[in-house]
Amino acid sequence: MTETLSYDIIIVGSGLAGLRAAISAASKNKDLKIAVISKVQAMRSHSVSAEGGTAAVLCENEGDNLESHVYDTIKGSDFLADQDVAEMLVKKVPYEIIQLDRWGMPWSRKENGGIDQRRFGGYSFPRATYAQDKVGFYEMQTLFDTCLKYENIIFFNEWFCSSILHNDGAFQGFTCIEIKNGHFVNVVAPAGIICTGGAGRIYSFSTYAYSSTPDGLDMAYRAGLALKDMEFVQFHPTGILPSGILITEGARGEGGYLINSTGERFMKTYAGNKLELAARDVVSRSMITEIQAGRGFKHETGVDCLKLDLRHLGGEKIKEKLAGIREIGIKFSGIDIIDEPIEVRPVCHYMMGGIHSNLDGATELNGLWVAGEASCNSLHGANRLGANSTSECLVWGTITGELAANYSIKHKHNSINIDNQQISQEERRIFDGIFRGRGGVNPYEVRKELTDTMDEKAYVYRTESALTEGLKKIRHLKSLSWKHVDDQAKEYNTNFINVMEIDSMLRVAEVVLLGALYRRESRGAHARIDYDTRDDNNYLKHTLAYYNDEGEPKMSWHPVTFTRYAPVERRY
Ligand code: FUM
Repeated sequence: MTETLSYDIIIVGSGLAGLRAAISAASKNKDLKIAVISKVQAMRSHSVSAEGGTAAVLCENEGDNLESHVYDTIKGSDFLADQDVAEMLVKKVPYEIIQLDRWGMPWSRKENGGIDQRRFGGYSFPRATYAQDKVGFYEMQTLFDTCLKYENIIFFNEWFCSSILHNDGAFQGFTCIEIKNGHFVNVVAPAGIICTGGAGRIYSFSTYAYSSTPDGLDMAYRAGLALKDMEFVQFHPTGILPSGILITEGARGEGGYLINSTGERFMKTYAGNKLELAARDVVSRSMITEIQAGRGFKHETGVDCLKLDLRHLGGEKIKEKLAGIREIGIKFSGIDIIDEPIEVRPVCHYMMGGIHSNLDGATELNGLWVAGEASCNSLHGANRLGANSTSECLVWGTITGELAANYSIKHKHNSINIDNQQISQEERRIFDGIFRGRGGVNPYEVRKELTDTMDEKAYVYRTESALTEGLKKIRHLKSLSWKHVDDQAKEYNTNFINVMEIDSMLRVAEVVLLGALYRRESRGAHARIDYDTRDDNNYLKHTLAYYNDEGEPKMSWHPVTFTRYAPVERRY
């Protein structure tokens, strides 16, 4: 008989959204027992790598205003954002900045002691609230320390959630593997929140941690919940070579600029007003256009790139505000940005899509919410503005934590009726199908081919033929007999966990490619060479993909919510 643990709320994922949700729920009622389940140690969640800032309007007296943040977000999204969601973010995020400050967040300060903000792409005012260039690390540290003050938050570090238990349209819990000993355990509760982050490791050239695989997205998808707008993958303009590690947009916010091989500051051709601080989709496309026109550099690995020049900022400013990326440059590219421009190239950085949710982060399953990058409440539409992601994690962490707490209190006395068939089906899937699988193809080669295919076929510019080839390749990989776990140990079997991750990557990559094929237009981060304009008549809507046990995902459309701004042409 499988062991079952009972809690009042289960949060999966211990990044910014997960920790913020835990605090929100725990502070609502100290009698609620909250489980935070993470496949890594909490402070190893990918949120610690966030660099540049958290967007908020703090300085209304200096000309900034909430409406401008709402409009910039909607314009940045290429008008695919749900506008009520953008309004919610903007209204609620200033409180989060102050709340973090009170919990001890070491925000960078102005000379007068006020919290400082820097410029970021696509915004009309300096709005990225920052702590040097290590925002995620300090925010995580602040939230983690705060979580430790609540006895009712219990961490399950290095537990892998594999499926959602549900009954009659209502959430019941998760099946999990305790990585330390390989035990299969059910964790049940009336309410759950998925905060498992983004899926950007389905690309090889990626800013994400190697652990950022789509396990959370995939378990929702397999449970019958829709994945929304998955074709919108953000390529951040400045990933360093060869690793893809992020050079923060804060570097351009502080005055750095991009140059081509003629030494020209080429962004003036593409975004005459905002230059390097246009929205990310615009800057990344401009970079690839420059490379294709033969004005790129060749990195020593043979990869085409451009350069980010920061020398004019001077050593003192770089050491004060950009110390983290200076260190990254020295250690991972062998370049000190004080002395030399650094080679960069657009890199997979964020998924605008995720698990379909409404304004409150509620999913299609009663009792289950989703927050942060794993979610798609349609805040970012077709392109996210930098610094709006950590904001989103904080705002929807708070909202979903509170809603889950209320729901759990209301349903506390309802008994949880686990469907035993779901559990045995899941045990068969992961133990017979994966752990004891004896496929003849190396799963790590499958992973490499998958991520290289995504780099090659679904990058900044896309075409029907490349996407079709990509889809064919992914389906071929899926069909191979590749599920093979060499290491048969029960304890700390990372080989086993990796194979489960690869399984989820294949399904989610298929959805990204299929969504990209369905959307025959260019909007935000989805740029089709063969349909090179935005088509509001036919595609001003979200894509939904539903899992189909018997064949291809079922695709459908979902309307965009408009509250104030009709779509217009974007100019930066
Ligand atoms: O460039 C950056 O620091 C990234 C920020 C973000 O993606 O929000």
